[in-house]
Amino acid sequence: MHRPLVAGNWKMNGSKSLLVEMATAFRSRQPAACDTWLLLPSVFVESGIKQFSAATVQVGAQNLNWRLPGAFTGEIDASLLKEVGCRICLVGHSERRQIFGETDDEVVKKTKACIDHDIQPLVCVGETLLERQAGEAQQIVAGQIGALMEALTAAQMASVIIAYEPIWAIGTHEVASADDAQAMHAEIRRTLKDFYGPQCPDTRLLYGGSVRANGVKELLEQPDINGVLVGGASLNTNEFLEICNTAAVAV
Ligand code: PGA
Repeated sequence: MHRPLVAGNWKMNGSKSLLVEMATAFRSRQPAACDTWLLLPSVFVESGIKQFSAATVQVGAQNLNWRLPGAFTGEIDASLLKEVGCRICLVGHSERRQIFGETDDEVVKKTKACIDHDIQPLVCVGETLLERQAGEAQQIVAGQIGALMEALTAAQMASVIIAYEPIWAIGTHEVASADDAQAMHAEIRRTLKDFYGPQCPDTRLLYGGSVRANGVKELLEQPDINGVLVGGASLNTNEFLEICNTAAVAV
């Protein structure tokens, strides 16, 4: 049984003052029974790690380049992240896939680059509204997971966390129902088991998409949902703390 994991994703938002405010609040009020991650804009990662060091919040990045160090102006690779103490990173968020054209192949390369540098990847998968309406949601997600499975051994997959984020639920206030979310999580777990067999790792699966404090309990009561990935609500200190508090007692 996993401890619940609440991962906040600030996206291209936030400020130095919010970082200080949140680190101060979490130092005194963070619930012990919940693992908490905060994925920050890369310019804040190093200072975030320092500021949260007294709280049990892990701070990490939202993206990386999979290439080895070299002439790639403006990019950040796994070794640079590691250099500043970063041990966790989001990979393949739907905004990167949709806005920046990130392919399954790149998501796999980024995931491997993380694993090779002892950075734990949180890999996002999920379908669009059109794909869901066309009855293709499971097939789309299975394809995204399939690309990862083809490239990773069971031992490598053991360090991967997967977040199912239906794209139509991101930033829309339209949360997937707990039943729909559970159904997809169960399907992801089955897909992993079918592929890896007895070696299959007990992968942590998170749900993401318009998560707010009031919906967390029901989501985490589902047998295959081990945590939540939170965008907008992770920019509000009280709400993010409330989500962590709710998660800590939900399972
Ligand atoms: P949201 O974002 O909570 O604002 O919907 C979730 C995400 O994109 O990770």
